[in-house]
Amino acid sequence: MAAYEFETHDYDVVVVGAGGAGLRATLGMAEQGLRTACVTKVFPTRSHTVAAQGGIAASLENMGPDHWQWHMYDTVKGSDWLGDTDAMEYLAREAPKAVYELEHYGVPFSRTEEGKIYQRPFGGHTTEFGEGPPVQRTCAAADRTGHAILHTLYGQSLKNNAEFYIEYFAIDLVMADDGTCQGVVCWKLDDGTIHVFNAKMTVLATGGYGRAYFSATSAHTCTGDGGGMIARAGLPLQDMEFVQFHPTGIYGAGVLITEGARGEGGYLTNSEGERFMERYAPTYKDLASRDVVSRCMTLEIREGRGIGKNGDHIHLHLNHLPPETLAERLPGISESARIFAGVDLTKEPIPVLPTVHYNMGGIPTNYWGEVLNPTAKNPDRVAPGLMAVGEAGCASVHGANRLGSNSLIDLVVFGRAAAIRAAEVVDPSTSVPQAGKDKIDAVLARFDGIRHADGAVPTADLRMEMQQTMQADAAVFRTDKTLADGVGKMESVAAKLDDISVTDRSLVWNSDLMETLELTNLMPNALATIVGAEARKESRGAHAHEDYPDRDDENWRKHTLAYVNGNKTKLKYRPVHLEPLTKEADGGIDLNKIAPKARVY
Ligand code: FUM
Repeated sequence: MAAYEFETHDYDVVVVGAGGAGLRATLGMAEQGLRTACVTKVFPTRSHTVAAQGGIAASLENMGPDHWQWHMYDTVKGSDWLGDTDAMEYLAREAPKAVYELEHYGVPFSRTEEGKIYQRPFGGHTTEFGEGPPVQRTCAAADRTGHAILHTLYGQSLKNNAEFYIEYFAIDLVMADDGTCQGVVCWKLDDGTIHVFNAKMTVLATGGYGRAYFSATSAHTCTGDGGGMIARAGLPLQDMEFVQFHPTGIYGAGVLITEGARGEGGYLTNSEGERFMERYAPTYKDLASRDVVSRCMTLEIREGRGIGKNGDHIHLHLNHLPPETLAERLPGISESARIFAGVDLTKEPIPVLPTVHYNMGGIPTNYWGEVLNPTAKNPDRVAPGLMAVGEAGCASVHGANRLGSNSLIDLVVFGRAAAIRAAEVVDPSTSVPQAGKDKIDAVLARFDGIRHADGAVPTADLRMEMQQTMQADAAVFRTDKTLADGVGKMESVAAKLDDISVTDRSLVWNSDLMETLELTNLMPNALATIVGAEARKESRGAHAHEDYPDRDDENWRKHTLAYVNGNKTKLKYRPVHLEPLTKEADGGIDLNKIAPKARVY
């Protein structure tokens, strides 16, 4: 292998990724006096959180009655009873505090007449434990909420002396023999130098892996880098079979049209002009949860009521709304509809299609963000020195299906929780343990092997093969046959990584090498997804299995753990946490309220 020199950096904490969760963790760590570095492959304010549109859920009660317990109930039901009860309580209880903190940091939320944070309805968010009307719980900065949050958190992190390493690609974690994470090895993209970050705590905030699919609302940078590093460290990925399809990606382009559009009064129609959601979800209609709406749209298309000459999409109407509402509340999607669909949404409907949007699964953690390395005896065993937050992690609050606007709140609540926990377990007065030279060499040997790969398969071709396989075989609806075929195909696609071809050997701005490293990260995420899906013989949340149409709590109310090694995946399971953090007598939720039942909207 080529000899690589490297520069060493010592920190209390290194955060990998600068999206909403990464920045909230970075800010919280720095505020508490921990020496904190944030390494990121893109400029912080270009992280994918910038694309989050509709808002962030918290029971502020600015627009009418609401309660954290109603938010918790909706989250439990949205998760189709696969989320961890303690984590879901933590999310719903801490949400208002986390949003007010954002406000005080300077996030420019939209306002009500009285000057309060504006909140809009979003799918699956209700009142009275699902018995009352939809609630306005989603706090919004027009339809650019992620953009507003990201810019504010970056500014605050700088103010608190967090140190940023921008356009550094994390190659791999350094894991000591006893399983403690000691930091991460990175490649600086603009000058080709190698950097070893030694840290007492490493936080993976690397986002989702939407780009394992052909059509996704996710940025091209969403390549599951944290999941890839975790798989190579021999740790599991959890509940990866649950992939969220957002009902309204722009047909053809995949660009997101926020659920806030339906929150503001938009509705879907089929080729007969029928508002079909009224048939499927008589109470909440277009504001049923995302998995439900996406399935209904797919059924309409399948049954011949799709729109267009190929009958392959659905219409989203906003043209009945006052133009002032569109300009004030939905300016971003007005622009997206014009650019990507050629539609003036004050006059015409937007052609839309369910599009891959979010990964419910990820790196298993507890509600402090500590990564789990479960054993049969101790399914909650913590991997020392390692945390994961945001879409990369799986706490698990979203279970089998995430509610819209519960992602931004997950980012800030758990980014903040990780910082609170780090202040308890990281001692800033001790010296930083140094990664072993043998471990660093092993990371660099893999890097060098990929850099000099001279096989026959171009990266772009293999990536396309993976994306098309996932799109076809791990889709909105799944069957035993599509999944079994998909597993076989994905295993042979992943095996082709051994025959990959990288043509550019340089180290400076080598996008060929970076995309190949990203592909090696996408691949274990994709494998874990399809193998976990093939094994799960039930339907739950986003996993709609046509051969097993019912939820099976007796056998399948459990988390999947996928250990991916090369092109092979081994599955284990761990129990769902059923205990809340707070007993009812101490102000906690009545457990009867969140007992499993049929999930109807
Ligand atoms: O529809 C949206 O604005 C997306 C929000 C989310 O995924 O939480």
